[in-house]
Amino acid sequence: MSKKDVGNKIPIYKLKTTEEVMGFYDDWGDKDKYNKDMVNWNYTGPKETVNTFKKYAENKSILIFDAGCGTGLVGKELKKFGYNNFHGADLSKTLLETIPKDLYKKLDKVDLNLPIKTNDDYYDAVMCVGTFTYAHVKPNALDEFIRITKNKGLICFTINEGIYKEYGFDKKIEELEKNNRWKKIEFFKSEYIASKNVNAWLGLYEVKK
Ligand SMILES: C[S@@+](CC[C@H](N)C(=O)[O-])C[C@H]1O[C@@H](n2cnc3c(N)ncnc32)[C@H](O)[C@@H]1O
Repeated sequence: MSKKDVGNKIPIYKLKTTEEVMGFYDDWGDKDKYNKDMVNWNYTGPKETVNTFKKYAENKSILIFDAGCGTGLVGKELKKFGYNNFHGADLSKTLLETIPKDLYKKLDKVDLNLPIKTNDDYYDAVMCVGTFTYAHVKPNALDEFIRITKNKGLICFTINEGIYKEYGFDKKIEELEKNNRWKKIEFFKSEYIASKNVNAWLGLYEVKK
């Protein structure tokens, strides 16, 4: 447990299994409640990641994979800055159904803890925001993100500080760098859900193949 005891700050952090997490989102996605909470909590994950991403992704028509897209907050942020070619994937059918029509070019219900049914070197970039958190998606998904991303493509993600070491994200990131699978461009502690005293590591890496 981290010194801040992040796991006690938000109810969903107490859950242990994917089934429990999906059940929780079935309620949270209802009546726009998730989106309203994110506004009330001043959740800055989507804004911070897209702000970081846009410094390096100048071409606005690149094909982007939003892994764990939820209600589409990252898609909305990408659109704000002129990106117009992105796909979304999430395991929660309830959340996927809340996404405004035509925001994403394609939406799929996908368990990101399993191999992703996408060809190698398919995307120019992957965004994964708020999804590396308690009982959600595990570090091995990073191998899949690299596999489906082109050489020199970008992978931009947040990792909840409370699980960064506990789930082995620290070791995974180090291993990928050591094995020349990707190169660090940015890595810093972001605000994330500062109103709840929960921060996240924000990383932007360039794929090497
Ligand atoms: C905190 S939300 C973040 C959603 C969105 N990216 C955002 O920033 O608002 C975490 C998302 O991860 C999804 N998720 C959890 N476990 C998953 C899994 N195994 N595979 C795919 N998505 C998963 C949830 O359904 C939820 O939409």
